[in-house]
Amino acid sequence: MASKSIYNLIEGELAALEEKSLLRGIPDVENGAAKELLFSGRLLLNLASNDYLGLASDDGMKQAAIEAVKRYGCGAAASRLVTGNFSLYDQLEKSVAEFKGQDDAMLFSSGYAANLAIMDSFAGRHSIVFSDKLNHASILDGIKMSGARHIRYRHNDVSLLKARMEAFKDAASKILVTDTIFSMDGDLAHIEEIADLCDFYDVMLVVDEAHAEGVFGRGRGLSYERKVAQRVDLHMGAFSKSFGSLGGVVSGNRELISYLRNKGRSFVFTTALPPAVIGANLAALELVKNNHVQGEKLLELSAELKEFLVAADFDCADSQSQILPVIVGENDAALSAQRFLMNEGLYVAAIRPPTVPHGTARLRLSLRADFTKYDMDKIKKGFMNLKRELSQ
Ligand SMILES: Cc1ncc(COP(=O)(O)O)c(C=O)c1O
Repeated sequence: MASKSIYNLIEGELAALEEKSLLRGIPDVENGAAKELLFSGRLLLNLASNDYLGLASDDGMKQAAIEAVKRYGCGAAASRLVTGNFSLYDQLEKSVAEFKGQDDAMLFSSGYAANLAIMDSFAGRHSIVFSDKLNHASILDGIKMSGARHIRYRHNDVSLLKARMEAFKDAASKILVTDTIFSMDGDLAHIEEIADLCDFYDVMLVVDEAHAEGVFGRGRGLSYERKVAQRVDLHMGAFSKSFGSLGGVVSGNRELISYLRNKGRSFVFTTALPPAVIGANLAALELVKNNHVQGEKLLELSAELKEFLVAADFDCADSQSQILPVIVGENDAALSAQRFLMNEGLYVAAIRPPTVPHGTARLRLSLRADFTKYDMDKIKKGFMNLKRELSQ
């Protein structure tokens, strides 16, 4: 079997990836969502997870998950359109819609599946989709699936976007989709200007608030913070980041959500999320709703660290959120900086192409609201030592 030619091709590709320091492997982490994770036997401060509010280990959420399992069992056993539904599901969708101030909401097995469904349902071969160059991969995959004409614009370049919209103003079906916090840069979309353009050019506006919910806008996202939420047609969010759990969610106008329920292939053709996840999500939503100061505290910690790193001459790009990139350029430089920081007791993610553009490999720090002064000092000390090492 191993003599089939595909094996040789794959072997060659793996070797090429290794040569460019692009070969990925799953890290030897024992407890990846914990604030201090156990990596190859060492306890390191976790700066790599998206559990921004520390909810993945919240006792109330654990208990809610256990209660849901006791009542409904371990698996949903079918797609929701068949028999996979249970009442907690309906309750969660209703709660999300209320929280977001929207007519209706709909859950997906992941944020990835939600973005696939949105793009594939609302865009088709005759549509134009305007999309920021740094949008998440799930959005790009959804656009590809839809067969729409994909008009990418330079990251956050609103004048270029306006020119593109003008060029396609006569098209009947137009959608703009943007992350509100860009996941590898931590900067923010110019959402007010984008909403103005979408109103003027009659373009459906879709926002991916996966990293902004729980943090901005009293936990509701950046569109809420910037007071354009009611001008957004569809809000996509994810329970996998600030909410410490799993699942994608889309909220908006009743007819749009109903259409999505009928057309979203990544919803129709998959098994529903299990009860434990829905139970945990309901508890997480209550925690975020009732404790939005955690998001505000997180942004303060992040601004403080950014100021420190920039003063030490690190390149943190234009981050304005809990995600702080430290751009180092070459792939092997990112990997060796990551290794150095492990010896300082810190675990940061080394992000390389194709996740980020070539020549912009980086460390990606994601902060957590439960970091103490001791933790923050440890991070600062680690980076000062890295600076010293780099300048030798
Ligand atoms: C901006 C953005 N959208 C969507 C997703 C996908 O969410 P999930 O991890 O829940 O599939 C991610 C996750 O990395 C993301 O960063």
